Amino acid sequence: MNNPSIVILDFGSQYTQLIARRIREQNVYSVVLPCTASLQQIEQANPVGIILSGGPSSVYDTDAPPTDARLLALGKPILGICYGLQFITHHLGGKVRSAARREYGHAEVEIIAQTPLFEGLAQRQHVWMSHGDEALELPPGFSLTAKTSNAVAGIMDEARRIWAVQFHPEVHHTRQGTELLRNFLFRICKVAPDWTPEHFIQTTVEQIRQQVGDKGHAICALSGGVDSSVAAVLVHRAMGDRLTCVFVDNGVLRKNEFQKVQDNLRGKLKLNLVAVDARERFLSLLAGITDPETKRKIIGREFIAVFDDEAHRIAKLSGSVDWLVQGTLYPDVIESSSVKGPSQTIKSHHNVGGLPETMKLKLIEPLRDLFKDEVRRIGRDLGMPEDILQRQPFPGPGLAVRILGEVTPERVALLQSADEIVVEEIKAAGLYQQIWQSFAVLLPVQSVGVMGDQRTYAATCAIRAVHSEDGMTADWVPLPYEVLKKISSRIVNEVRGINRVVYDITSKPPGTIEWE
Ligand code: XMP
Repeated sequence: MNNPSIVILDFGSQYTQLIARRIREQNVYSVVLPCTASLQQIEQANPVGIILSGGPSSVYDTDAPPTDARLLALGKPILGICYGLQFITHHLGGKVRSAARREYGHAEVEIIAQTPLFEGLAQRQHVWMSHGDEALELPPGFSLTAKTSNAVAGIMDEARRIWAVQFHPEVHHTRQGTELLRNFLFRICKVAPDWTPEHFIQTTVEQIRQQVGDKGHAICALSGGVDSSVAAVLVHRAMGDRLTCVFVDNGVLRKNEFQKVQDNLRGKLKLNLVAVDARERFLSLLAGITDPETKRKIIGREFIAVFDDEAHRIAKLSGSVDWLVQGTLYPDVIESSSVKGPSQTIKSHHNVGGLPETMKLKLIEPLRDLFKDEVRRIGRDLGMPEDILQRQPFPGPGLAVRILGEVTPERVALLQSADEIVVEEIKAAGLYQQIWQSFAVLLPVQSVGVMGDQRTYAATCAIRAVHSEDGMTADWVPLPYEVLKKISSRIVNEVRGINRVVYDITSKPPGTIEWE
């Protein structure tokens, strides 16, 4: 029998995984199933409660999701959210209509009934709404529990153990949303808060073992960052040395990173690691190239070529390679699901996406449902070093997208030295973990300076520091003047070849985080 879980039926809302995350934060196990799941699949997940998510459809749409409404009669406590409320209303005999105007954003809600779902909540609630339809008539047996000035905001039928709200308790703008979800979990479903990172590790390792069986070999491309490292450690627990990790020096890593990553992953985490020095391959292809997209494409393509060579070599040694481990996170899943949208053309992000097709590899993605901070929590429980867990994101094409103009070994060395100073000073100021990314960019601009009595004519570097939640949007950080002063003076004095430092004060949008 599976672990007792809260089943979240996904009707397609952008917030569904946020519901799952809020529940995990309460140390409760949850499973997200598509809204087309059969009753049997739902029951297999051993639900102690079911949440119906929001979604973009209208219950009257001809292509409204074909969900089996008999789930409402399973006898499990149910919480409908947004579309979930309309689904319940529609299928149990009430009426839903298209609202005169779409409600989107902050709203005030008044709680008008006592129910365990609202226990301890203030009568006036500040909430987040996002819907086009609204409930007009409640189904038989239901009563109104909350309202806005002109619409239904909450309903219930306690006898059938069904509750629903029109607003989104999972979004942090709903100020007491977490309390509401806690009430559902602990007062209504009476579930135990015993789901911990340790549980996640155990069940994930077990699932991977079942997925891969006792034969076959897996490979994983490591970047030295938190996601691929945590994914590799989890798979290593399940498969041991049937997993080979590959770490490629593409010539545009940070200073000493090739060695540091090997020390951490092979030395401390005991991963079966192949480190490939492919600097020459990459740098010779990059010679003479200045166009940002061409650089990205070259690095992406060459990475796949190098990795492919390694994979074939490993396949020869170990009989076969069947699996590819990737540290895909939930935000990456969302981002790539909009791959067809216009945002994709801004920059071609580099990954090992081409491999599964060429080598017919099956994917293992143990972190697909998680957010970055959850991955860090898991990593901590796995005993991973803090310098991996806290490392700021670093792009696949590395320093190449921070070297404007041609990427040459000399310019890479210049930027590595400047970058090292930025990281050291940001760390010394205690800011490294508060900032999403902080780094130096080498510009193709020479300017005149004076050092001692000597005229200089040398390169300019820009400093960039941004706050961000997920890399999709970002604000530039007003670094303290003292920190900027120290960085600037150290770079100009210690890095021969840079004589001017400027500060980038552009947010995203309109800028991007990386300069290329
Ligand atoms: P931009 O520059 O698009 O970057 O605002 C957003 C975030 O993505 C990182 N980034 C990449 N990460 N491969 C990656 O793995 C890439 O090709 C890539 N390009 C940008 C960037 O560092 C920032 O965190």
